Amino acid sequence: MGIGYLEKEGLFRLTAGDAEYVIGIADGKYVGHVYFGRQIGDNRCGCLMRTEEAPFVPSKNLREKCSFADAFPAEYSTWGVGDYRDSCLNVRNEEGFRGCELHYEGCRILEGKPELPGLPATFCGEGEKGAGMTLELDCRDKVLGLKVTLRYSVFADSEAVIRSASLVNEGEKSLYLERALSACMDMDMEEGELLTLAGSWARERHMVRRPLAFGKQLVSSFRGESGHQDHPFLAVMGRNAGQDQGEVWAMHFVYSGNFVAEAEVSQFGSVRLLMGIHPEGFEWVLKPGETFVTPEVVCVYSDEGLGKMSRIFHDLYRGHLIRSPYLHRKRPILINNWEATYFDFDTEKLLEIAREAKQRGIEMLVMDDGWFGDRNIDEGSLGDWEVNEKKLPGGLSYLAEQVRALGMEFGIWFEPEMVSPDSKLYRARPDWAIQIPGREPVQSRAQYVLDLSRPEVVDYVYESVAGILRSAPISYVKWDMNRQMTDVGSACLGRERQGELFHRYVMGVYELQERLTREFPELLLENCASGGARFDPGMLYYSPQIWCSDDTDAVERLAIQEGTALLYPLSTMGAHVSACPNHIVGRVTPFRTRGHVAMAGTFGYELDITKLTEEEKRQVEEQVKMYHRFQPLVREGDYYRIASWGENHKYDCWQVVSKDKREALMTYVQVLAEPNWHSRKLRLKGLDPEAEYWLEEIGPEADRQAREGKTMTGKVYKGAFLMYGGLLVPRMEGDFMSKMIHFTRM
Ligand code: GLA
Repeated sequence: MGIGYLEKEGLFRLTAGDAEYVIGIADGKYVGHVYFGRQIGDNRCGCLMRTEEAPFVPSKNLREKCSFADAFPAEYSTWGVGDYRDSCLNVRNEEGFRGCELHYEGCRILEGKPELPGLPATFCGEGEKGAGMTLELDCRDKVLGLKVTLRYSVFADSEAVIRSASLVNEGEKSLYLERALSACMDMDMEEGELLTLAGSWARERHMVRRPLAFGKQLVSSFRGESGHQDHPFLAVMGRNAGQDQGEVWAMHFVYSGNFVAEAEVSQFGSVRLLMGIHPEGFEWVLKPGETFVTPEVVCVYSDEGLGKMSRIFHDLYRGHLIRSPYLHRKRPILINNWEATYFDFDTEKLLEIAREAKQRGIEMLVMDDGWFGDRNIDEGSLGDWEVNEKKLPGGLSYLAEQVRALGMEFGIWFEPEMVSPDSKLYRARPDWAIQIPGREPVQSRAQYVLDLSRPEVVDYVYESVAGILRSAPISYVKWDMNRQMTDVGSACLGRERQGELFHRYVMGVYELQERLTREFPELLLENCASGGARFDPGMLYYSPQIWCSDDTDAVERLAIQEGTALLYPLSTMGAHVSACPNHIVGRVTPFRTRGHVAMAGTFGYELDITKLTEEEKRQVEEQVKMYHRFQPLVREGDYYRIASWGENHKYDCWQVVSKDKREALMTYVQVLAEPNWHSRKLRLKGLDPEAEYWLEEIGPEADRQAREGKTMTGKVYKGAFLMYGGLLVPRMEGDFMSKMIHFTRM
């Protein structure tokens, strides 16, 4: 890791692992993108900005300044002064004029990494390996009196480059930020592909690849949350880039609200990548002396395809973003009653589930929606966080104590950001809901969103949640958020500042979770938003795990978890075994397969365990044992994707290898059975080619073929053989069958 300033050449070189990021100052004042890729270490690389080519820089050829601006590879593009590609920054002054041009003024190279006030952000990790450095570049628009500081950080143990910007009004009049994105990166790329993650409720984060084409291609959200539909991520991939080969440039947004992630291919065959808060519905008033800080963007370069990109993200998030003390701890195996009972439960029913669960080795009972106010269907009481004593006589403390007496922990569900029209809270404070005066607010799941731009609302919400947590021994909270925003108006913000509501809301959420994790440092927090609608790096800063999707079907989960694990460590993916027929898709899959798939995440159950057959209960016991054995590997290891069902429509396979390569675990799911087919060859990854590995099939009953000595399990093979030759996995009879194979270095 290093940050160097080459004054004579006007270059800043950031090195992070094998990667190098170079920024250049062109014509003495324009901050340009020179290079992001494998280390080149040549001080002459500033020529890559092409400022020596026609039409020259403005100081030599002022009459063609516009041509310069429209082709220059900018680090932070601005609107209205000759660059017609999309911009990071668009500022209006008090007189109503738009336009901004930033000139470089000076730099600072800092040890460590400054915090971003009120925002989740990466931080330096532990020891020398976790150390970091930051480059700050000050730029100014003298006409506006606007100072912009571009910030770049690198860490000793990561190849990622982290970016954000601070905008300070140093003038005497108000400025109006109409766009304030976080980062821009202009690169040459005439041919390539764009990779994004897309979906919907119950099918979040499916991978989508499409050719890069002239013009703008973007994914975005102005739903008030990052959303099920798009994900605040984009990557451009060189031609023929794949899982293990080719170049990939990726950006991921550490933010949980509206976003835009855009690739714009310009007239000169360059591509501009942009990422930041969505400008739609956004306007921020910057009074003299005020600062606006943009959320940060993680930039990753990989010269070994998507696999290496994923591992860079995973290590970065484990080492520099997730703060929870549970990060490196074994999480308790939980059982959640949502799919078991929905709203139809009482203390006795929950205890019945807990008793059976305890017997089988499950460690925590989580009580989901329906324990408060008058909530027996999803139509009321959000905001009234008082225990429903009709369902839970003796209250929460009685139930929690009973669960603890069984030797289990107790967790609870909240949806703190919401209010039901049918609630005491809404009747008392209708103005606390986000809405536009005179317009009937749009309901979604019969609820409104609370106006978290108001400090008194944040306080109320905080006290409601914290009061409950103080009242009983509660170890875990599932923090849900079940609707997207409409009617975006605040009774308090005033005429000028309505455009700030979306962002102020997200800042309110962050403040709530910050306060919660401070007061209850040992609380295990799991974020959730109608399944996985707010699974983003912003929320990960507060919670070590996020509910991945309401779709718990083992087959549907393959694509959801593949897309999620493209960026997030497996230890962050909330994954549970649920009952069949599956409640979302009606599919029936083997209990064993459901366990294997959920084992790739935080692991737990989402079913009425009292209704399982004896055989299924026995399998629960097996799964609990497997979890205890493999959880440290899954949590801390390196993730490799071997095959993707989304691509081949036949089977799925992934692998986790311990950092020291002493052990590995492979999960294989044969989605549909095929007739007249021989064994399948799977090439493993990430092993030590020279080491010998012992192969063990995991499961209570070794396969018939294994017993007959027809499989490769139970034997020792060289890493090179398994990686380059391959592992033959026998065909299994029936659909949705799976296998787990463990590798131990001899
Ligand atoms: C959301 C969550 C579910 C469950 C319900 C309760 O949909 O994703 O897991 O908690 O809310 O209403």
